Amino acid sequence: MANMKPSVMVIFGASGDLAHIKIFPALYSLWEDGFFPDNFFIVGFARTKQDDAVFRKTIFNSLNVNCRKKPIDEEEFLNFSKHVFYLTSEYGGDSSYHELGVFIASKAKEYNMPKNVVYYLSTPPSVYIDVINGIDNAKLTSAEYKVDGFSRIVIEKPFGYDYESAKNLNGKILSVFKEEEVYRIDHYLGKETVQNILAFRFANAIFEPIWNNKFIDHIQISALESIGVGFRAGYFDKAGIIRDMMQNHMMQLLSLVAIEPPPLPDADDLRNEKVKLLKSVRPLSLNDIKNYTVRGQYDRGIIGAKQVLSYKEEEGVPPDTLTETYAAMKLFIDNYRWAGVPFYLRSGKRLKMHKTEIAIFFKKLPYSLFAKIGIENIKQNSIIITIQPNEGIAINFGAKTPGFKLDIEPVNMVFNYKSSFKLSPPEAYERLIYDVIVGDQTLFARYDDMLIAWQLITSVINGWSKTGTPVFPNYEAGSFGPKEADALINSDGRSWNN
Ligand code: BG6
Repeated sequence: MANMKPSVMVIFGASGDLAHIKIFPALYSLWEDGFFPDNFFIVGFARTKQDDAVFRKTIFNSLNVNCRKKPIDEEEFLNFSKHVFYLTSEYGGDSSYHELGVFIASKAKEYNMPKNVVYYLSTPPSVYIDVINGIDNAKLTSAEYKVDGFSRIVIEKPFGYDYESAKNLNGKILSVFKEEEVYRIDHYLGKETVQNILAFRFANAIFEPIWNNKFIDHIQISALESIGVGFRAGYFDKAGIIRDMMQNHMMQLLSLVAIEPPPLPDADDLRNEKVKLLKSVRPLSLNDIKNYTVRGQYDRGIIGAKQVLSYKEEEGVPPDTLTETYAAMKLFIDNYRWAGVPFYLRSGKRLKMHKTEIAIFFKKLPYSLFAKIGIENIKQNSIIITIQPNEGIAINFGAKTPGFKLDIEPVNMVFNYKSSFKLSPPEAYERLIYDVIVGDQTLFARYDDMLIAWQLITSVINGWSKTGTPVFPNYEAGSFGPKEADALINSDGRSWNN
C-alpha cells in the first residue's frame, strides 16, 4: 500500500459537525493504524475563536464519541495532537490565507518537504466561493508557490443546488484547480460494501453472464433511514431527500450496479463507464415524473416504541414546509444490457427500518415443473446486496423442504462481512482521506458524472414544481413510506423488498 505523503491538510469548517463526527475520527484512525508520516500536519480553519489547545481538546472529546478507536488513549492522542493546529478566521478576506501560506511554507522548510497541500471544504456551501477565492488570491495553488508539491481540493456535498449552480460551482473550482486535483466526496463510494459491488460483478465468472435484461427482471435500490433530520433542518429543508440522497449516493449505486466493465479498474476508466451509464438513463418527461416518481413527508409516528414528531414539527423546520423527506422513482436505462429492466429507487427518513440495499430480482421461471403438482408461485430468485447494516450479500433460491412431501420454500445463501473476514472495515472517510493523500480519484465523483446526475435530478425537481405538491404529511413515521410508493411498484406486478 502506498504511504500517505508528507502534507498539510487544511480543514475549512474545522469546528463544525462534519469535521468532528467524520473527518477527525477518520484522521485519528489513520494515524493510529500507522498511515501518517511524521511530517503530516492538519490545520483547522474556522470562525470559532479558539487556540490550538482548546481545539485539540474539542477533538479529543469528539473522538471519544465518534471514533471507532474509542476509548482514545491520552498518550496516543497527545502525539497525534502535535500534528494539529488551528487558525481562527472569517472565510472572506485575504489575510488569513496569506497566514496559511506562511504556515505551510514554514513547515515545508522545517521538515524539508514539498508543499503538498490538501484543502478540505467542510464549511456550509454558502462560503465555498469565499474559500476558493481566498486560496486563489493568496496564490496558494500557483506554480511558484507549489514548486514540487501538490494542491488538492476536497469538496463535500451539497455540490450545488441544481444543475446550473453545480455547473457554476464546478467552473469556479476548475478556474483555480485542475480536475485531477479535485476530490468531490460521495462518502458512499468509500464504503467497503459499495466497493464490493464491482468485485462481486467482475471478480466472479458466475454473475456477470446473467447480469442483463435476459435474466434480470428488475432492480431495487433502497436507502431507508429510521432517523429524522436531527439538527440539520437548516440544510435539509432546502435540499430535500432528492438532493440529499438521490443526486449523489443513489446515482452512484445505480451506476455501480449497472455499468459495463471498465478496461482498467482505475479512476478514469471507471468514471468513463459511469458517465456512459448515466447518459443512458432515460430522461423523465413531465408525464413520467407524474407517473414514475413519488414524494413523501413524514407525519408523527412510532419508531422503536418511541413516539416521534412529524417533519413539520422538527426543530428548525418551517411549519408550512413543502420539502420531501421521501422519494421514490422508476428509471429505465436505454442500452443493450438494460433495455426494458426497471430500476426502482427509494430513499427516505423516519422509515420503519435502517437499511441500504440493492435487490436484484431475476425473471420468473419460464415454466414451472412443480405447478403440475400444485406448487404455485415459486419465488423469483434474487440477490440482495446489503450495504448496511449487516453488510453482506444473500442469494435467494427455492429449496425442497425436508420430509416425504415435495414442497419448495425460499432459502438464503449468505455472505456476511463480519463472519467471513472477522475484521471491522475502515470507515468510509478513512478510505477517502487516505485516497486523497495518495492521489487516487477512483472513489470520487468526476465533474461529468456529477453534472449528468444533476441534470436528471434537476428535471425531476422542475417537474415537481409543475405537477403540484402532494398533501403533506403523507406517511407515518415508522412506516415504509407513502402508499403511492407502493402503488408505483405494485402497479407493475412487483413489490418492494421490505
Ligand atoms: C448523508 C446525508 O450524505 O448521508 C444524510 O446528508 C444521510 O441525510 C447520510 O443520513 C446517510 O449516510 P449513511 O452512511 O448513514 O448511510
